Amino acid sequence: MTATHRSRPLTIAIDGPAGAGKSTVARQVAERLGYLYIDTGAMYRALTLKALRLRVPLDDAAALTALAATTTIRLERGEEGNRVFLDGEDVTAAIRDPEVSRHVSTVAAVPGVRERLVQLQREMARGGGVVMDGRDIGTHVLPDADRKFFLTATVEERARRRQAELARAGHQVDLESVKAEIERRDRLDSTREHSPLTQAPDAIAIDTTGLPVAEVVNRILEYCR
Ligand code: CDP
Repeated sequence: MTATHRSRPLTIAIDGPAGAGKSTVARQVAERLGYLYIDTGAMYRALTLKALRLRVPLDDAAALTALAATTTIRLERGEEGNRVFLDGEDVTAAIRDPEVSRHVSTVAAVPGVRERLVQLQREMARGGGVVMDGRDIGTHVLPDADRKFFLTATVEERARRRQAELARAGHQVDLESVKAEIERRDRLDSTREHSPLTQAPDAIAIDTTGLPVAEVVNRILEYCR
């Protein structure tokens, strides 16, 4: 009897700290496989933007939980990656503002916020054919993902990448403050109680320091064969 191998679309989880190159890599992997790319960080950023605009006190977990429950966040495939919609408004550029970056980890530490966004993320991943990036995808959101990757890089390299990215968006920030900001966010993300940033035991770690994006993408695709 001959076995038939029908390829089923995979679920791919990519986690790692700020500036490790997750979103660039995840988007390209998704494109190459014809999969949907889900940027979960963008969802936490969108909710943070809304909280800042409405001046919701960021130490009020109940208020942030209530805000999450009444907010619609949608990711749509666009020409250059996903577009992010917050209650129907395109906030793709606004969520990258340094002010949002400064506060997002505080909002993302609230359990009620996480539960709501994780529920949406699981719904989006149902059926497979997705590449999802974040901090807790392999450990918590999709513990049964077919492939899990954990991207790292030295903090210096991550700071340089983030500085260049900010410069492209018109924000001139000095390297030392970008580095301090990244370290602060990593600390908050790794030490929070609810699903902190950590490598899943079954994740493949890739140190992207000095590696071109294409090289990281190819390594991941090889593991996905
Ligand atoms: O792109 P960058 O590395 O700056 O971060 P991001 O992926 O946009 O995520 C922004 C923030 O959202 C992170 O620093 C975390 O605080 C939070 N986040 C999270 O808690 N869980 C996720 N699955 C994704 C992001």
